[in-house]
Amino acid sequence: MENIRYDENSGSLYIVDQTLLPNEEREILLSTADEMYNAIKLLKVRGAPAIGICAAYCLYALSLKIEAASGAEFCTLLEKNAEYLNSSRPTAVNLSWALKRMVVLAKGNSSFAVEDIRGLLLAEARAIHNEDIEMCRKISEFGLTLVKDGDGILTHCNAGPLATSRYGTALGPILLGTERGMKFHVFADETRPLLQGARLTSYELYKAGVDVTLICDNMANTVMKNSWVQACFVGCDRVAANGDTANKIGTCGVAVLSKYYGIPLYVLGPTSTIDLNCKTGADIEIEQRDPEEIKTMFYAKPMALPGVKCFNPAFDVTDHELIAGIVTQKGICRPPYTESLAALFK
Ligand code: MRU
Repeated sequence: MENIRYDENSGSLYIVDQTLLPNEEREILLSTADEMYNAIKLLKVRGAPAIGICAAYCLYALSLKIEAASGAEFCTLLEKNAEYLNSSRPTAVNLSWALKRMVVLAKGNSSFAVEDIRGLLLAEARAIHNEDIEMCRKISEFGLTLVKDGDGILTHCNAGPLATSRYGTALGPILLGTERGMKFHVFADETRPLLQGARLTSYELYKAGVDVTLICDNMANTVMKNSWVQACFVGCDRVAANGDTANKIGTCGVAVLSKYYGIPLYVLGPTSTIDLNCKTGADIEIEQRDPEEIKTMFYAKPMALPGVKCFNPAFDVTDHELIAGIVTQKGICRPPYTESLAALFK
């Protein structure tokens, strides 16, 4: 099943509802702007590249409902839809990146007939999707050069096919290497509070025949101390110009541990996740989420009293000094990142 699927015949957009995994593999239809906004907000579709791809199709699907007398009026209404979708989650830059790409294209062709602009938007959404497949493949190839057969690899959250299009970023080298007959031992952090590691990463790797062991987040130290891990692969939601990287909450803790034990931690992601407008990680907005995700969400009974305060940031920023390399579809960037990341855009 494809995680994001636009059916041109019926004009319908489907996603695999990731909140139901691993117990149920079900596609859901996204028709209204509110359904689309909530699918992103509630993590039915999640992972930075997947959010971008989905948002592009969402905007196209919404464009079919716009009634406008001229291309210019159509673009104004399209932009309003884009702003609404963009407000669903703040940290992953791929969301605004993909929406901006769609709006800029429409505005650049606002003198065309509305129907023709819609045609361009569908082609653009498809291009964003196909480019991601290609980028993941290249990231996987570059990432595979960083590990050898038999290595132990620790990963945090989920940066696999569900979070992208195909292969994934952090899981890409593992899946590609496995296809080529290599064997890895993967430790998947369960990733509290939303359990992307348990629900999605161990699911994807297990189904692909990878030797995956699920651990609680607070066990990462033990597997590293036992020398069971030779590299850490993580994804990214936004990379600042100096290499500081926002990724799922807990990534920074993994990076600190890996530095202590001399294990390289690599960030893997497409160049669309690099935001040169953010000078450092301090410029990255971190999403705060509902306390109920910590207190009640995956429990049969509440695990804290209703009045207990919670701090629930969805992401943290890993300092660039803790990152051994940033793997993109254009190659592997090494420190100093201010130079190596800028060079990608020249
Ligand atoms: O809150 P999520 O599940 O969307 O967070 C996802 C991550 O942190 C991923 O590591 C990141 O988006 C990269 S996905 C290729």
